[in-house]
Amino acid sequence: KGKRAFIAGVADDNGYGWAIAKSLAAAGAEILVGTWVPALNIFETSLRRGKFDESRVLPDGSLMEITKVYPLDAVFDSLADVPEDIKANKRYAGSSKWTVSEVAESVKEDFGSIDILVHSLANGPEVTKPLLETSRNGYLAAISASSYSYVSLLKHFLPIMNPGGSSISLTYIASERIIPGYGGGMSSAKAALESDTRVLAFEAGRKKKVRVNTVSAGPLRSRAAKAIGFIDMMIDYSIANAPLQKELSADEVGNAAAFLASPLASAITGAVIYVDNGLNAMGVGI
Ligand code: NAI
Repeated sequence: KGKRAFIAGVADDNGYGWAIAKSLAAAGAEILVGTWVPALNIFETSLRRGKFDESRVLPDGSLMEITKVYPLDAVFDSLADVPEDIKANKRYAGSSKWTVSEVAESVKEDFGSIDILVHSLANGPEVTKPLLETSRNGYLAAISASSYSYVSLLKHFLPIMNPGGSSISLTYIASERIIPGYGGGMSSAKAALESDTRVLAFEAGRKKKVRVNTVSAGPLRSRAAKAIGFIDMMIDYSIANAPLQKELSADEVGNAAAFLASPLASAITGAVIYVDNGLNAMGVGI
């Protein structure tokens, strides 16, 4: 029987989430996505008007189908956590049931269970500030949106994940090496995400036989990456210095995620898998 995937963090056709959805769809999975509430309208409109049709084409020529788009804000676990100003915000008031627990509940009502959970989202309001200039609120916001969001997603989806299921997140080497410019506590958030990957692999493995891995991806010109400001430089640096001197395509990360989600990876859990043209292995740029 086909597998069902929920991919959190898809709001256009440029990011890793979209590419992962495509690779999973090409392998026969049914695709559900979670889209950040403020981006929901434009994403659904663009999807409906065919703006993404070219990027929906799968290797066999068919178009990727997204069975359902769920509004999601992964910094809130339940309605009780949502402050009044957000509740009153026009874009948020326009949809409902977008906290993590409510989305998991809706997916359960609609489909019963899932096999694959993907976390492809991050946010750090002070990402352009060096760590030394980052405020406590900025740091905690980065951790909330980029790290705890994953703990919360897995916590709420695990009860509806089938045994043998797989969960994947996206991380960045700034967690373990100095990458000037990846600020605002985002490097700290990725370090937490990688550490949590190990602990969650243990807990979800023992509890539900679910595997938990994270893909440490090389630089991609996504919407989120453009907001950081140094993405073109990072892409040029990688092409100049990595063992494989080519631009990384989002599909290469998508394919690795599809592998990790498949039975081919049945003994891989708690791992950080580099999909970065090998840049992580270099000691100096040359
Ligand atoms: P993206 O812009 O396609 O994806 C980020 C998504 O997160 C967006 O769709 C945004 O709407 C969503 N989002 C932000 N806050 C949210 C919230 N509170 N609740 C729900 N959704 C929220 O950009 P990209 O780069 O594909 O990011 C996906 C993942 O890949 C992130 O974890 C990122 O850190 C990681 N990554 C990206 C790299 C790059 O160079 N682009 C390199 C290594 C890792």
